[in-house]
Amino acid sequence: MIKLTPPMGWNSWNTYGHNINEALIKETADAMVDTGLLAAGYDYLVIDDCWSERQRDENNRIVPCKEKFPNGMKSVADYVHSKGLKFGMYSCAGNYTCAVYPGSFEYEFIDAATFAEWGVDFLKYDYCFRPYWQQGHILYKRMGFALENCGRDILFSACSWGVDETHKWIKETGAHMWRSTGDINDSWESIKTLAQKQIDLQPYNGQGCFNDMDMLVVGMYGKGNVALIGCTDDTNKDIIAINQDPAGRQPYLTDKNPNNMSWAKPLDGGDIALGFFNLTDSNQCPFIPFDNIGLNRSTGKALHLTNLWTGEDLGVHKDIYRAPVIAPHGCMVLRGKLVDAK
Ligand code: GLA
Repeated sequence: MIKLTPPMGWNSWNTYGHNINEALIKETADAMVDTGLLAAGYDYLVIDDCWSERQRDENNRIVPCKEKFPNGMKSVADYVHSKGLKFGMYSCAGNYTCAVYPGSFEYEFIDAATFAEWGVDFLKYDYCFRPYWQQGHILYKRMGFALENCGRDILFSACSWGVDETHKWIKETGAHMWRSTGDINDSWESIKTLAQKQIDLQPYNGQGCFNDMDMLVVGMYGKGNVALIGCTDDTNKDIIAINQDPAGRQPYLTDKNPNNMSWAKPLDGGDIALGFFNLTDSNQCPFIPFDNIGLNRSTGKALHLTNLWTGEDLGVHKDIYRAPVIAPHGCMVLRGKLVDAK
């Protein structure tokens, strides 16, 4: 399978950690539909770590925890699918998962076949407890092979946290997305650190294998399994459309200041998205000289800009766009349409 836009969905880890069970997952599936998340494009529901028994069965098959999932995983998958969602699960390239449940090391093919039988559509594949003599890229290649041959389309979500120079080998493994950072927690500092890590890694993001900055912490407000300080939130369909743009082109930095980042992303059909992110603790007025995006004066072209958070028509700008004051930790995202400069 090939993934043309970044996968979107919900994962159990950040909120519930090991406190997962069949009823909770079914309730979550209902909520994803009822709250409009599915309609907004969040179509994967993923069960993270701590779903299995501590031991494999006598045939070396991994077994769902009988207490948490008394009816097995197939019935959970069936329920999730009945809501129009896709169903994701979790395993690990090492001997154990990060929470010390059985990992898939040397059981890759049997596990991929089991996941396929259950109706799994997505596998998050972690990196804990890898034997020291094994190279990570080989383990991900092995699971990539197993998934491609399991008889079902299963999205391969690698989670080696960007260590061991993951960006250099991850595309070879068949992964459709790869964790480019360590774990997020619900705090501004964490979001900022993860965002800044993308500056060097963004050239590796693209169609087929997307950089994964770990989950959104929107709406957690300092509660749940990765709780820390909490964050305020903003969500918006036009912003999601930028993320899901069919051309799948990677954004690039137009200003290398890591505290006050300006990014541009060319969109399908010729528009361009411009994003200003104030990572500092003081007000900023960033700007993008259009030279930096290839629209120098001699082109005779300008950009008709719309603010995607407010919907405000910002009019036509040539040569440069100077943003108004952006509050600390704030951002502004614009969509620009190419027009003739007057
Ligand atoms: C690692 C991963 C997390 C989560 C936990 C589960 O830390 O990076 O996203 O899957 O393991 O134990």
